[in-house]
Amino acid sequence: MTEEVIAQPPAASRRARELGAKARKALGDPRAAVNLRWLRTMSGATVERILEVLAELDDLVPVEQEMRRRHVAGGRPGYAQIRAPFELYALVRILQPKHVVEAGVSSGISSAHFLLALDRNRSGTLHSLDLPTLQRGPVLQPDESPVSLPPGLATGWAIPFRSSRWDLRIGASQALLPRLVEELPTVDLFLHDDLHTPEHLAFELATVRPKLSVGAPVLADNTKWTGEAFPHFAAEVGARVSRRGTDDLVGFRFPRRTRRTTPIPTPGPSA
Ligand SMILES: C[S@@+](CC[C@H](N)C(=O)[O-])C[C@H]1O[C@@H](n2cnc3c(N)ncnc32)[C@H](O)[C@@H]1O
Repeated sequence: MTEEVIAQPPAASRRARELGAKARKALGDPRAAVNLRWLRTMSGATVERILEVLAELDDLVPVEQEMRRRHVAGGRPGYAQIRAPFELYALVRILQPKHVVEAGVSSGISSAHFLLALDRNRSGTLHSLDLPTLQRGPVLQPDESPVSLPPGLATGWAIPFRSSRWDLRIGASQALLPRLVEELPTVDLFLHDDLHTPEHLAFELATVRPKLSVGAPVLADNTKWTGEAFPHFAAEVGARVSRRGTDDLVGFRFPRRTRRTTPIPTPGPSA
């Protein structure tokens, strides 16, 4: 995979991590340390602008604490999903997208951080798709995925605030994403974090492609399970993939409108 790498002054990286430290501690996920290099590549912003936005993260501490409390109460003490919640927040603050689309919500870590940033921007909408898998009983069993939905709760159950900027649609992305994309004038940021198969990721990327705006971050988590789907798509649109440190969370900025060269693949099975 061709990867984009930006040189990084170590002091700036340290400062970025420091600025996110309180929020990270409150959320209780050490993996959420801000990766400045990735954020620079994905935003195209200067270090100064990024640090300015990261300085807002202390304001998120009460929300992070409450999301952690809800995860603990829900039997998921070590669980926080997306490893880059603060980068997601910063991307939305910096790029001011009108339409953010995410596939895969679960308890709502990524959704919450998109919404916090959109609310602060006072513009834009988060369109989220989620087909919950249901936890079998009151207690999460060792053979069950922590992304499953505890009984009596709804998708986004760890999010402690309401936002009028959230367009949450419950159902399979295979059915809902094409309809959503049809409705939207543009997709200004896309995050794949639902069914991690190569076929499904390829389907989602091909589906959003016609509406991706120039410069839109296109992100995919858990790509260790999706084979070559992401790098293939990046190569097809002429983009270079940027990996978040050693994670399998990857992304690129959509370079320009290109003519479709391959048909949209058939959606994979529902989760
Ligand atoms: C990894 S979790 C999402 C984590 C979330 N982004 C976060 O940061 O907390 C994946 C979610 O996608 C849902 N899902 C699985 N297959 C799906 C599909 N075909 N369409 C929509 N959602 C799906 C799962 O039930 C689960 O809620």
